[in-house]
Amino acid sequence: MTKVIKVNPLYPELDTLKVAVNVIAQGGLVAFPTETVYGLGADCFNKKAVLKIFKVKGRPPDNPLIIHICNIKQFEDLSKDVPEEAFTIIKKLWPGPLTVVVKKSSLVIDEVTASLPTVAIRMPAHPVALKLIELSKTPIAAPSANLAGRPSPTTINHVISDLMGLIDLIIDGGDTLFGVESTIIDLTTKPPTLLRPGPITVEDIERILGIKVKIPKYAKGLHEASVALAPGMKYRHYAPKARMILIELNNYENLNPLINKVREEVLQNLDKGVKVGILCSNETIKFYKDLNVIKISLGSRKNKYEIARNLFKALRKFDELNVDLIIAEGYEEKGLGLTIMNRLRKAAGFNIVKLS
Ligand code: TXA
Ligand code: MG
Repeated sequence: MTKVIKVNPLYPELDTLKVAVNVIAQGGLVAFPTETVYGLGADCFNKKAVLKIFKVKGRPPDNPLIIHICNIKQFEDLSKDVPEEAFTIIKKLWPGPLTVVVKKSSLVIDEVTASLPTVAIRMPAHPVALKLIELSKTPIAAPSANLAGRPSPTTINHVISDLMGLIDLIIDGGDTLFGVESTIIDLTTKPPTLLRPGPITVEDIERILGIKVKIPKYAKGLHEASVALAPGMKYRHYAPKARMILIELNNYENLNPLINKVREEVLQNLDKGVKVGILCSNETIKFYKDLNVIKISLGSRKNKYEIARNLFKALRKFDELNVDLIIAEGYEEKGLGLTIMNRLRKAAGFNIVKLS
């Protein structure tokens, strides 16, 4: 039986949160809101509870979890040999949508880190997440609260649709703010390596550290890694049930080639009797008016936060509507655009058409 409890996302009621604290203390699983996406949490020191997370999600055991904390003491307890850059960056960006990978202390159990010598740690900025960790008096290990391979949950309905009946408790704190998972930066390498782009941009991190960050191909969503260092590197991720084709441009100043290619793909597939959907933007949707297909706009290209926030919701919407094939538009890779493209490329399973 899964219980769903509602809290005020800004001022969570303590009595209500105590129900969740009890579940964590007894080794149970709690889905809770963060500012990025919903997380599926357990006491990070409870081996049985951590293993349950993997089982419930159907998550491969070599894909490690992020530990969520509420103060710097917990960070110090869980890590060792922390480089100066780590403190520079977390002082500026925590609490917030940034995860740092550092060497782990002996307190961290192997089940959380998939036996890696490092650990991923994040202090979330969401009042419900922070208060839950604080009242639980233990850091909380939590992946995104979706079934493995599905788009991360940004609304309570997403969590319910994936995990109802499988976990102990779901805390309803409304829609999440950013709608994409945290930025992950590996600080054990020199220079630091971006493992997953997120709401905090590489440009932000480089400005704070005063050095260039390494951006591997897989962080752009372009290549699979042989080990699961960040989600989607090794496994198909953020995936809608529908097939997806992503149309990319070199230069997004002139959108005409993009619009024309989307139209061409749609018409070709409609001819074959495929149920097609278009994932577009406020600037382009009018050019598809005559096409008798489902269109979802992610928002204005001028507001990348809006595009990111609506992305996973849109992918799940296409599934609800039983679309077979999604034709998706690309975005400029700058700033938050890199995060959006990482998610889109992975959702497309590397099914990309690049126009010059
Ligand atoms: O925004 C977020 O980060 C959300 C919310 C709930 O905090 N969490 C999230 O967790 O997206 P998850 O499990 O879906 O993605 C975390 C990824 C793991 O898949 C893993 O690849 C990477 O973080 N990771 C964890 N530990 C790592 C480590 N020691 N080294 C490299 N990557 C690691
Ligand atoms: Mg995930």
